[in-house]
Amino acid sequence: MTSGDDRELLRHHGDVDAEPGLLDFAVNVRLDRPPEWLRARLAAALDRLGRYPSAAEDRAAREAVAARHRRSADEVLLLGGAAEGFSLLSSLRPRLAALVHPSFTEPELALRDAGVDVARVVLDAADGYRLRPEAVPEDADLVVLGNPTNPTSVLHPAEVVRALARPGRVVAVDEAFADTVPGEPESLASCREPGLLVLRSLTKMWGLPGLRTGYALGEPELLARLVRNRPHWPLGTLAFEAVLACCEPSALAESEQAAREFDEHRQDLVRRLAAVDVEIALPASAPFLLLRVDNGEKVRAALRERGVAVRRGDTFPGLGPDHVRVAVRSPEHNALLVAALEEIVGTDRGSAA
Ligand SMILES: Cc1ncc(COP(=O)(O)O)c(C=O)c1O
Repeated sequence: MTSGDDRELLRHHGDVDAEPGLLDFAVNVRLDRPPEWLRARLAAALDRLGRYPSAAEDRAAREAVAARHRRSADEVLLLGGAAEGFSLLSSLRPRLAALVHPSFTEPELALRDAGVDVARVVLDAADGYRLRPEAVPEDADLVVLGNPTNPTSVLHPAEVVRALARPGRVVAVDEAFADTVPGEPESLASCREPGLLVLRSLTKMWGLPGLRTGYALGEPELLARLVRNRPHWPLGTLAFEAVLACCEPSALAESEQAAREFDEHRQDLVRRLAAVDVEIALPASAPFLLLRVDNGEKVRAALRERGVAVRRGDTFPGLGPDHVRVAVRSPEHNALLVAALEEIVGTDRGSAA
């Protein structure tokens, strides 16, 4: 259960660790701004800002998402980022929400702020942060988890996530990083399962944290319950344009190529880290790694002195001060991080944990 006075820590995100001027291994957004072709699409859409966003634009964007995930447009709800999806969950009026941790903390905060009772299901490092459906309280009528999970980088098998389904229960899967996994093998975005809600984001892949764009996929009745208290015109014209653009075949091909690069670059980082006295949570599938290092706070401070920002891990329920999350970057940048770490903590066998 929750302690009540941990709000500030749960609100901590990597953008706070990534102070200007530091080499950023704290934030997991792929690009520091959207690609040129996407900027051009957004710039062209500026001319439409003189009109309210229309139902036709909403429909067109939902149809594009539906085609991408082999669903119908009425199974798509466009969101102001996956984060908006978390805040809409309380509209389902759950009696007990089970939050699988360690994980992104905004869902828990949104539910607690709405007065929902929350139970934490804390996965075990010794068990490889494996999801055990039986650990989720049977009476939870809402379960929230991330796949792949921030910050552990664990990709849960789709069938294990599906095993959480129960009559009368909503299972909300935060797939904000799903498009960073080549082929998205464990994604449930195309899965029509009663009570299953998949949340997706354009933020990470397309360098769009400032636009606030994502979407939810689920049964039309479930989506209708989510939007009960939503204002009119929740999304702007530019968000619709971004969704349309990022669902086009060329964008999907670029996204898949970027996912393959993430995979290669993560392997590069794991290889380099093997020489350093840190433990890496493996296997990892997302564009970041969770590390455990002795004297974590001192190590983070020493990295900052050397111009490197990493994400503190202790604000994630289930982790402590010796945990840090590092983004996967290009081999050149990975080498800088590893060299700094090597100087600070020394070399070792580098054990996998
Ligand atoms: C796991 C996870 N889910 C969701 C979000 C929020 O995504 P969005 O920008 O689409 O609201 C983040 C942002 O850091 C995240 O790490």
